[in-house]
Amino acid sequence: MSVHNQPQEGASEPGWKTVWWEEDEQGAAVCLVDQSVLPQAVVSLHLRHEQQVADAITTLKVRGAPAIGVTAAFGMALAVCRFVQEHEGTALTIVEIMAHLRAAGKLLGRTRPTAVNLFWAIERMLQRAEQVTQQSLSPQQLARLLRDEALAIAAEDVAACLSMGTLGASLIKDGDILLTHCNAGALATAGLGTALAPIYVAHRAGKQVHVFVDETRPVLQGARLTAWELQQEQIPLTLITDNMAGHFMRSGGINAVFVGADRIAANGDVANKIGTYSVAVLAHAHAIPFYVVAPCSTIDLAIPSGDHIPIEQRNPEEVSAVRGAQVAPVGVRVANPAFDVTPHQYVTAIITEKGIARPPYDVSLGQICSEHNTI
Ligand code: MRU
Repeated sequence: MSVHNQPQEGASEPGWKTVWWEEDEQGAAVCLVDQSVLPQAVVSLHLRHEQQVADAITTLKVRGAPAIGVTAAFGMALAVCRFVQEHEGTALTIVEIMAHLRAAGKLLGRTRPTAVNLFWAIERMLQRAEQVTQQSLSPQQLARLLRDEALAIAAEDVAACLSMGTLGASLIKDGDILLTHCNAGALATAGLGTALAPIYVAHRAGKQVHVFVDETRPVLQGARLTAWELQQEQIPLTLITDNMAGHFMRSGGINAVFVGADRIAANGDVANKIGTYSVAVLAHAHAIPFYVVAPCSTIDLAIPSGDHIPIEQRNPEEVSAVRGAQVAPVGVRVANPAFDVTPHQYVTAIITEKGIARPPYDVSLGQICSEHNTI
């Protein structure tokens, strides 16, 4: 994979890609930069079966709510393209293809429970297919239509990131020192990112910014991914361990916090990477604005509060070991929730591609989402 270190000023994507679609003589492929080995290696993967796509999501080769959604959409399209290609010359029916598509949706839907973008993208692909089942399309036409729908979802994500970046950059002043948790950058989307997009846009506009990056245990998305991304863009950063955030807030060194989200409930409660809640409480205690940046596809108006958000429990070894090196006594009891919920009281604003939502969120999110192309 080639990595270009100098993105164009104003570009809607970085100089490298997180997830993309390719077609060659072997057929279709969902392509990813393997985030499980970054930053030590930059490796691109060509996945040719929906099972490989599901495994890549489960094992965090691709992660971050919008990127998971785009990947799942591509996975659905891949499932149909591959199925149609394998049955070329046979009398494949639309009913058989739809059954295969639904099975792919179930497979992909079992990968990670918290990021609602996954289910949103699967549902949108299913609905697109169902819309055209009466149109007597050929299997090849249906496969192309689903590929185009997945490409549209990816393109919409690129545009949403740029819009969130532009809106969010208006909240960043020249000279600001910002703090972020986990990775909500280009690696977590098909475009510029969510929480990092305002920082990219502000930096490209010539504002001096400095970013404190929480390392984000247990899987170190901050240290491995956010630090790498910001370095690629030559944005000044300081990497800290998660337990240092309060120290730097208390000493007056942080002007605002920007984080992403995996699911936002109707009342504005936000599920994001484990540790986000602690950062929000600290920001509140120090009167530091706490901004959540997320596209409308992350907002789940069907659930009234964060209490209803399913929290993924991951392998205990992510905690008892660091990058495969055991640090805790063997056999020790471990808890490993991958996400926590930040109550809406701690959220200063939610920046979406359609506008900036402020409290009361049960009103403002509904207004913003009513303009969203909901499924
Ligand atoms: O477990 P991960 O790495 O998928 O968790 C990612 C996060 O929590 C991000 O902050 C969130 O998905 C927003 S990404 C734009």
